[in-house]
Amino acid sequence: MKFFIKTFGCIQNTADSERIKAFYWNKGYKEVDNWREADLVVINTCIIRESAENRVYGLINEIDKWNRNPPALRAPSLDKEGLKKISIVVTGCLAGLANKDKTGKKLAQLKRDFPEVSEFLPIEKISYKIDPIRDKKDLALIPISFGCSNFCSYCIVPFARGPEISRPMEEILKEIDVVIKNGFKEVLLIGQNVNSYLNPKPLFNSPLDERENTNYVVHMGKKRLHSSFHILLEEVAKKDLQKISFVSSNPWDFSDELIATIAKYPNIDRLLHLPFQAGDDEVLKKMNRGYTQKEYLDLVKKIRSQISDVRFSTDIIIGFPGEDEKAFQNTVKLCKKAKFEIAYLNKYSPRKGTVSAKLYKDEIPQSEKKRRWNVLNDLINKK
Ligand code: SAH
Ligand code: SF4
Ligand code: F3S
Repeated sequence: MKFFIKTFGCIQNTADSERIKAFYWNKGYKEVDNWREADLVVINTCIIRESAENRVYGLINEIDKWNRNPPALRAPSLDKEGLKKISIVVTGCLAGLANKDKTGKKLAQLKRDFPEVSEFLPIEKISYKIDPIRDKKDLALIPISFGCSNFCSYCIVPFARGPEISRPMEEILKEIDVVIKNGFKEVLLIGQNVNSYLNPKPLFNSPLDERENTNYVVHMGKKRLHSSFHILLEEVAKKDLQKISFVSSNPWDFSDELIATIAKYPNIDRLLHLPFQAGDDEVLKKMNRGYTQKEYLDLVKKIRSQISDVRFSTDIIIGFPGEDEKAFQNTVKLCKKAKFEIAYLNKYSPRKGTVSAKLYKDEIPQSEKKRRWNVLNDLINKK
């Protein structure tokens, strides 16, 4: 039996796919790199924007068409019973969203819409204890937390991936020891909110660990548990690694201890991904992001003052409801001041079930979103 896996979406999905591959290899499947040769196509899905979701449906439909209307090309896979049909398994955020809906309506609807999909398999069914089949040779992807509890008003991730849960530090460090033994020189620590990592099983009896689960900090408009991310990062940085990176950080969890840890270890990547989403305070409030433009810029300034060679990348949402020209100019202003190396520019797409989709009309025309996209792309990415 042969399987093919298609991965859409973010680096967390890429990391999940390395586990999903191992799951199917362990079942005796062999991987092929053309879906037309496979008996099983696993689609690891992303639903962050409508366009991402549509790409998933497009692939399902393409496979279904191939199954229904077998061209002459398929003759080599003729067996005694006739033409083999490719089965489809959907995993990732679409499967997560459907399986997490307690009413069961979403899953039932998807099954009705896509009878050709044999299973909507949530990633939780595939254990993280499984040894991943790593795609890259130098860089090891290490998920340190799953899910997200932030509920930025536009975002589907908390619904698709559930509340934020961190992996035990001991387990993460063991996984990193294994990859180092296997010759990896770089690791990327992954979480939707990577710097709010909280070790569920404290490894050290340090005073910091005692603060866990009891001590809150208020930072940039959010009341947060004191994260142990800097402790984990320091343990990783002490190991024999050339580069340690982490994504995605949120401003409100960027603690002074974290800044100090990065400054102390030169093998921690100096390119920090710090999404700000919007530069206008009113828009930020409607996004439930907590901070103001000034607070974000002050944080960038503070990090720069302590890590001289630091560079920044970011994510921006363009055309969130209420983003008038003045609000957009605040985003431009923030970009000019922060001087990002790269920005990932996302046109706002309302996601069913999120607060912003319920409360606000998607009022900015597509053409205007495109214009603003070009302005920011010219400013940041085309230098
Ligand atoms: N957890 C990460 C990444 C979230 S998804 C973070 O918080 O940074 C990646 C990016 O997709 C987000 O940073 C945001 O810019 C974008 N995004 C999320 N929901 C969106 C939506 N409904 N419309 C447009 N872009 C969206
Ligand atoms: Fe979405 Fe916000 Fe969580 Fe990122 S931090 S995954 S944008 S809810
Ligand atoms: Fe997409 Fe899920 Fe990542 S919706 S961006 S694959 S967390």
